[in-house]
Amino acid sequence: MTDTTNGMTDTEAGTPEPVIRLSGVRAELGSRPVLRGIDLTVSRGEVVALLGANGSGKSTAVRSIIGQVPVSAGDIELFGTPRRRFRDWARVGYVPQRTTAAGGVPATVTEVVTAGRLSRARLGILRKADHAAVRRALELVRMADRAKDPVDALSGGQHQRVLIARALAAEPELLIMDEPMAGVDLASQEVLAETLREQVAGGATVLLVLHELGPLEPLIDRAVVLRDGCVLHDGPPPKAVGQHALPGHDHVHPHAPAGAGPIRTGLLS
Ligand SMILES: Nc1ncnc2c1ncn2[C@@H]1O[C@H](COP(=O)(O)OP(=O)(O)O)[C@@H](O)[C@H]1O
Ligand SMILES: [Mg+2]
Repeated sequence: MTDTTNGMTDTEAGTPEPVIRLSGVRAELGSRPVLRGIDLTVSRGEVVALLGANGSGKSTAVRSIIGQVPVSAGDIELFGTPRRRFRDWARVGYVPQRTTAAGGVPATVTEVVTAGRLSRARLGILRKADHAAVRRALELVRMADRAKDPVDALSGGQHQRVLIARALAAEPELLIMDEPMAGVDLASQEVLAETLREQVAGGATVLLVLHELGPLEPLIDRAVVLRDGCVLHDGPPPKAVGQHALPGHDHVHPHAPAGAGPIRTGLLS
């Protein structure tokens, strides 16, 4: 079988085209198994939340998708292409989990967002359309008035908005964001929710790592909950998430018949 299809076959057949597909993905970090057989599919236009307690493997899972974590078993496909052969990174916008680590030469807001456009700039030369895209991305997250400011002068929420503008500058079809709401003030959360709403309305596919659904809940089509590197839940967003899912609520019914599966209520504990 040759591999020269245009990738449209599934769509033409009426099956939603998978934009992200992980099957049986395993990863070890420092000899410790962190992903222990993850299956995850995100179809075109879907907004999927990746939930789970700290350390459950959420960041490792999204970093495996973008090739920042070596995978020891399983398969990953992006837009129907095995990740190893995937080259079209301008189609993917990635917002890493924000760390507080500072240092280095402070870049300006425009410089950071422009970096996100380089994947679209032919021969690395930014043209008028590229500068316009950078400006548009800054306007989307309402940071155009801070374009010339150094990023280290920004609040946490403003910084996050700049990282999201950087991901949007390439006008990606797929957005992957790792805890975009963490450490973000309410005003910035609202800007982010609105920005995401616009992206989704424009047809973007989104995979979001979240600690709780919060203000993004109305946008989420499906939730995948990880626990200890395994998928615990894949379906409608669980109701009891976030601070209400207390460890004490985690309960495996001892009398459940074989094959019925555990009944758990503390999905994120
Ligand atoms: N570079 C690394 N080396 C060793 N262990 C790591 C590394 N990165 C993450 N881990 C471990 O892998 C597990 C999953 O981490 P992570 O994917 O960051 O979880 P989450 O994003 O769900 O909080 C954690 O136990 C973490 O300590
Ligand atoms: Mg994480």
